Parts: sequence; C-alpha cells; structure tokens
Amino acid sequence: MDVRCARFFISDRGKPSFWEKALQMTRRKKIYEGKAKILYEGPEPGTLIQYFKDDTTAFDATKKAVLEGKGVINNRISEYVMTRLNSIGVQNHFIKRLNLREQLIREVEIIPLEVVCRNIAAGSLSTRLGLPEGQALPRSIIEFFLKDDKLHDPMVTEEHITAFNWASTQEIDDIMALTLRVNDFLTGMFGAVGITLVDFKIEFGRIWENDFGRVILADEISPDSCRLWDSVTNEKLDKDRFRRDLGDVIESYTEVARRLGIMKEMPTVIQGGLH
Ligand code: TMP
Ligand code: ASP
Repeated sequence: MDVRCARFFISDRGKPSFWEKALQMTRRKKIYEGKAKILYEGPEPGTLIQYFKDDTTAFDATKKAVLEGKGVINNRISEYVMTRLNSIGVQNHFIKRLNLREQLIREVEIIPLEVVCRNIAAGSLSTRLGLPEGQALPRSIIEFFLKDDKLHDPMVTEEHITAFNWASTQEIDDIMALTLRVNDFLTGMFGAVGITLVDFKIEFGRIWENDFGRVILADEISPDSCRLWDSVTNEKLDKDRFRRDLGDVIESYTEVARRLGIMKEMPTVIQGGLH
C-alpha cells in the first residue's frame, strides 16, 4: 500500500486544516455528538449536516484513538456507497457531500437498532458460536443489536423489537429486505475490486410522508462499519486493524478508497487550505 496515497486525503499532518476548523467554529447548532460523527442543524428544515471525526473507538469506547484523516476518507467512501445504493433504488439519507468532512443528509427518526449482515463467520459470531473466522456461512445471516452503549449493544430478536415498539413487524420486513439488497450490491461492488465483504453493520431511520412512516438507510457505510478482506490474501482492510492492533489503519482505509476509484477525485489538502 502506498502511504503517500493517504496524504491526498488529509491535510499536512492529517489534522483538520485551519479552514476546516474555522468552518466548524461558525457552525450551526450541534444536534448530537456520537463516537465518530457529529450531527449539526442543516440549512433547511428536515436536513442535517453529518460531520465525520477522526476519533476511533472500539469495545464500547474503552479503546480510543484519533486516526488523522479517517473522517475525510470515511466521508468520501460513505458518499460513494450511498450514491451507488441510491442509484439502484435503495433510498438513503445522503443528499450531497459538502466538504472534506461533512455531508448534507435528510433528517430521520433513527430506529435504535444496529442491523448486522454476515456472509462469512468473523467477530462476535465466531466467538458466540465457536465458528472459525473465515468459514463461509450457509447463507447470509441478519442479526439485530439494540443501540445502547450502557447495555453494550445487546443482541435482540424480532420478538423484543416488536414488543418494545422499536420497530413494527412491517418495518422489520422492510429492513431485512433492504439489508439483503445492500448486501447483494455491496458484495458485487467490493468483489469487483478484489475485496470480500465479510459482514457489515447498517442503521435505518424513519421518514414521514403524509402521516405514513417509511424506513430508509441512514448513518454511514465505511471501513468503520464493514469487515473487508483482500480477496486474495484475506488481509484485513477495515476497523479490525484498529480493534486488533494490526497497524496501518489509515493505509488500509485508503487502499479501499483507491480500489473503489475514489482516490483520483479527492481534492488535495495542503498546509493552510483546500486546493
Ligand atoms: P461483530 O462481529 O463485532 O458483531 O461486528 C459485526 C459487524 O458490525 C462488523 O462489520 C463490524 C460492525 N460493527 C459496527 O459497525 N459497530 C459496532 O459497534 C460493532 C460491535 C460492530
Ligand atoms: N461501536 C464500537 C464502540 O463502542 C466500535 C466498534 O467496535 O466498532 O466503540
């Protein structure tokens, strides 16, 4: 991997540049701050600005680091993936990218579930069921986790989801159908550039139209939220490099962007400003 490539994405030392900081300080109202992103009030009702931080956490934020430039790369990869998904009819909250770290999104009512889809055993599935990492699953498996850090995002079933009104039966059906479409599309998209989509996590939100709620894809899709392995070597190109102290995290994320062909479109950022 070419470390110099990463420099295309980030400022001199990878930190937000003077102009990025200035832009942030004149920013509108902060609506919510999560571990890796901040949501600001958008320019119009029903819109928000999603800001991608360099902060990286694992294991309920017990492990933390600032990986310089990560937010810039994830903003760009997520833009690319959401745009491609939109083009095949998977509606999502992405409207447009505004700058290196921000995108304009549609405001949604977040459904408090992390929806995980797996093609190959890895991570918590391997631990839970004693499956060797890398074992192909008989079919794609969808799991639901409640978004609640205090409870360590426990796994929940459709029974819990409907009983506690986190989502309706119809919404669960829609979520599962959309998740499988996302999986099929992303498996092909990454496969075409020599990357195996092992698993991923997505989130959904509700939008309201004439009193009818509908679920659309929200949040982000990036190497933070997917397991991506090189198809030939099985080398990890995702956040497991951070979780497992494998090093070269930014280089791996950059490699994903490069293979997707995003790299060449990135503006270069050099000391003091955007070019
Ligand atoms: P897991 O094997 O740890 O349950 O992770 C499954 C997928 O979900 C993997 O692609 C990483 C992603 N993920 C997140 O995006 N956020 C999280 O908090 C966790 C635990 C996993
Ligand atoms: N969401 C996790 C955290 O709590 C990060 C992860 O493992 O992806 O920090």
